[in-house]
Amino acid sequence: MFWGALLLLLSTNAVASRHDEDLMSFVTLPEVRALKWEIEHYDRERMAPGYIFVAPYGQISPERPTQKYQQYQVGPYIYDDSGMLIWAGSPMYDNENTFDFKPVNNIDSKTHLSFIVGWASDGSKKGHGALVSEHYEVEKEVQVINDLHDFNMHEFNILDGGKTAVACTYRNARVNLADFGRPTEESWVTVGGFVELDVATSEVLHQWDSLDKIALHESNMFHAWDGPATGEPGWDYVHINAVDKNEAGDYLISLRFTNTLYLISGKDGSIIWRLGGTESNFDQDFTFSKQHDAKFVSSNGTHHVISMLNNASDERGNDENTSSGLVVELDTTVNPMTARVIRRINRPDSGLTRLRGSFRPLPNGNYFVGWSERGYSSEHASNGDLLMTARFTSDRYSTYRSYKGEFTGRPVAPPDVVANVYGTDDKDTTTLIHVSWNGATDVVQWKFYAQSYDRGDPVYIGSTNKTDFESMYIADGYMDWVSAQAIDAEGNVMHTSKVMRTEIPSNWKASGWSGSKYGPSPDDPSIIVAANDASKLSSSNPSGISSDKAAELIGTNSTGSIASSDHSAAQYADAKEVAKAVYKAYDIIKGIGSLLVFLLVVGILGGAGFAIWRSIRDRRKRSYQHVPSEEGLPTEEIRLTSTGRE
Ligand SMILES: *[C@@H]1O[C@H](CO)[C@@H](O)[C@H](O)[C@H]1NC(C)=O
Ligand SMILES: *[C@@H]1O[C@H](CO)[C@@H](O)[C@H](O)[C@H]1NC(C)=O
Ligand SMILES: *[C@@H]1O[C@H](CO)[C@@H](O)[C@H](O)[C@H]1NC(C)=O
Ligand SMILES: *[C@@H]1O[C@H](CO)[C@@H](O)[C@H](O)[C@H]1NC(C)=O
Ligand SMILES: *[C@@H]1O[C@H](CO)[C@@H](O)[C@H](O)[C@H]1NC(C)=O
Repeated sequence: MFWGALLLLLSTNAVASRHDEDLMSFVTLPEVRALKWEIEHYDRERMAPGYIFVAPYGQISPERPTQKYQQYQVGPYIYDDSGMLIWAGSPMYDNENTFDFKPVNNIDSKTHLSFIVGWASDGSKKGHGALVSEHYEVEKEVQVINDLHDFNMHEFNILDGGKTAVACTYRNARVNLADFGRPTEESWVTVGGFVELDVATSEVLHQWDSLDKIALHESNMFHAWDGPATGEPGWDYVHINAVDKNEAGDYLISLRFTNTLYLISGKDGSIIWRLGGTESNFDQDFTFSKQHDAKFVSSNGTHHVISMLNNASDERGNDENTSSGLVVELDTTVNPMTARVIRRINRPDSGLTRLRGSFRPLPNGNYFVGWSERGYSSEHASNGDLLMTARFTSDRYSTYRSYKGEFTGRPVAPPDVVANVYGTDDKDTTTLIHVSWNGATDVVQWKFYAQSYDRGDPVYIGSTNKTDFESMYIADGYMDWVSAQAIDAEGNVMHTSKVMRTEIPSNWKASGWSGSKYGPSPDDPSIIVAANDASKLSSSNPSGISSDKAAELIGTNSTGSIASSDHSAAQYADAKEVAKAVYKAYDIIKGIGSLLVFLLVVGILGGAGFAIWRSIRDRRKRSYQHVPSEEGLPTEEIRLTSTGRE
């Protein structure tokens, strides 16, 4: 009967969420609705280690709060390569749009995260580049301290060592149209450039822009016959979307509206060479257009290996039929200089990536491509073989770039635990414990503890392997105060949750309760555990609900494990009776809070009371090293009164 009620409860939840099936939901983080993935693996063995980093958004410009979708779907998110959520970052920045979210492994021996965030829809905040530690604590916020209108969303590229970062800039200027043969006219244009910033102070160390360096006629966006822009922002004639720097101190930039990559001298800002577009300095065995995410793979002064997402499509149309990731090798020692494709990775669905995207070699030689729309991403072996594709189940979201990389997450915040008790009478109460630890990597197991009162000693009640973002454990009886420990592969305790009070149904009768009119009373976990252990030894033919049966009813055995229910009904009932007596006695003492009254109670209860008192005293004296009891519980969590809960 109880299991029937539980099944009903779970299926009711499923019905309630059918309209947003493309979103995850969690008992422990009810506000977070992370996007689900559709992932196809073609060869898992050859996949690179690491997690997937995306920053889904519905609409690029900062949105005013709307009722359109529920909170906490956009922002920085980490998943594993089977689509399991690792970190929901939207609560950190209150659901703000985030761009260029990635793991940063070039600063020190620790892994970090970086992203661009923090514009205000009313223009009052310019946004910043954030560098975040593996503890999810902000280490640096690189602000816009010059006259730029915002921290441009395309790129926040922290350079080796972590002292400086490069970012794209957009700035409006008036230019003469002599280049278009109209020397008497002027137009507003959006000038594209980059800055190198001091990560610690936000100071602008170096800046460059296209004004007077890249002529209007290089643009494929505006032409001699276009009427001038009479107001700001003007013609976005170059559209910078990527910047990188090599060891020689020169900068590689990508301008989408000139179909060209440029090497810019770090010494004097001159253009050293152009690759692609109408004025390429190279003999090329390939073409590309509307490219993204151009980066140095290697660069030694004369030879450069460059990766980029080509090709061939934007909001106006497509030049080719499929987009691709390209790795090209440039030799500048020959005349003419040569550029050769050394790897081409076509979009697996043969589609076109309109706008946005990313393409990076991984440390093991694989490639990871972000095709952007709906988060479509793919991983390829170094020879190009397709290993995996992934996309958001939802078609409402995209991500500007997506990355794969190794990362260790060790949140400072403890794991979140939510527990609920269910049952139809005192003999079949069961406590469902949900636990998650947002952002933690490498948790392999959860251990669960219960205690009969808020400052009691934690009693180990069982464990479950972690196989999903949130894990569930089902414990026999009514465990009033519970906690969970995250365990790593070596068996070490990584962190311990707060001790949480188990939630009770607000209306027991409506939940099918047929026991005491006050609802169930909490059990003493040590007695339940002892009774279960004893029955495991003695009982060969269990009468309780088996683990398999329970798993079947709940419809899963991947996220939850079932506490042993193999006990004889009689022993269990005895244990419940004793537990109830202990709890009542403790409740009275706690409620009145006086030793005198306690002694009075002991007198009234006589020998039995004394035994109970001794058991409480003994339990208090026992020491449990693993779980420190929570001394600083806020008062609202301590609601040990007898009202309606006897
Ligand atoms: C785009 O990719 C196609 C197919 O892979 C290739 O043939 C073509 O040269 C590329 N287009 C450009 C403009 O580079
Ligand atoms: C740069 O790399 C190329 C190709 O790997 C190599 O042939 C050349 O000698 C290198 N030049 C220097 C200065 O290291
Ligand atoms: C693109 O596809 C169309 C129709 O399938 C075909 O006619 C055309 O030749 C293709 N273009 C290229 C460059 O492959
Ligand atoms: C939990 O994980 C351990 C170690 O991987 C494994 O040996 C054990 O069988 C797992 N337990 C369950 C119930 O899956
Ligand atoms: C539980 O897991 C096992 C092994 O993974 C599987 O064979 C079985 O069908 C699962 N049971 C249920 C109820 O999902």
